[in-house]
Amino acid sequence: MQVLHTVAELRTALAGQAGTAFVPTMGNLHAGHVSLVELARRHGSPVVASIFVNPLQFGAGEDFERYPRTLAADCEKLAAAGCDLVFAPDVDALYPAPQDFIVQPSEALTRDLCGAFRPGHFAGVATVVLKLFNLVQPRVAVFGKKDFQQLRVIQELVRQFNLPIDIVAGDTLRESDGLAMSSRNAYLGATERIQAPQLQRELAAVVAAVQAGERDFEALCATAGRHLKMAGWRVDYVALRDAATLQSPMPDSARLVALGAAWLGSTRLIDNLDFSLGNPA
Ligand code: PAF
Repeated sequence: MQVLHTVAELRTALAGQAGTAFVPTMGNLHAGHVSLVELARRHGSPVVASIFVNPLQFGAGEDFERYPRTLAADCEKLAAAGCDLVFAPDVDALYPAPQDFIVQPSEALTRDLCGAFRPGHFAGVATVVLKLFNLVQPRVAVFGKKDFQQLRVIQELVRQFNLPIDIVAGDTLRESDGLAMSSRNAYLGATERIQAPQLQRELAAVVAAVQAGERDFEALCATAGRHLKMAGWRVDYVALRDAATLQSPMPDSARLVALGAAWLGSTRLIDNLDFSLGNPA
């Protein structure tokens, strides 16, 4: 597996490749990322992963500085998963000059949910992903459903800019107690870690109630949020949305998604469950 750090090296290594499958990451990889690499292998070759903690998508006071940088361990996992090439630029390599051309994603997709609590976050994600797509020129790119709003933003980026890239969505991997795998789980203290699966349980309760015929979506989400608050969480949101538009469900919505974001201490966790009415998530 090659590990490259500069744009020039990357362009040389990938010249003439037409079937690249790409997995962008911020590193500190866990089994969820490994599953995305394995998924990528089924969709193209070579498999390229990027590791880059993108300053543009972190707001003031967020965890950019403390986000774990674990390149050597990440490369071992990527090699074992069958990755062919890792692109791990430093900030100057990807942003040699201030990045003042920014991709501004659709308001409809980003004005609420995480977008309401992390201003500029999705513009930062869309901008770095467009840059990485231009550099890697993949035929396929794999993103996890764990970041559901991000996935929808990237799908729209590709559609509205006519990028010849298929976006493949990877399922969320969970720990045995239901907690969605996330690099940020490492921030949790022992007691918080025991409490953390409650977010998924509350979302599952919303899904179960909707599938059982309950249609007061606001009340269901408010109940879930109240349960979390009573247990000591600081809740950003619990919401039920149309999985395509991320707007309130319509009577003809084919797929729905229950999403939540909440804090345990200084750790912000997100999770979601997407489902069809009448079918299990
Ligand atoms: O999901 C992530 O890890 C990041 O948001 C991404 C897509 C690699 C862009 O920095």
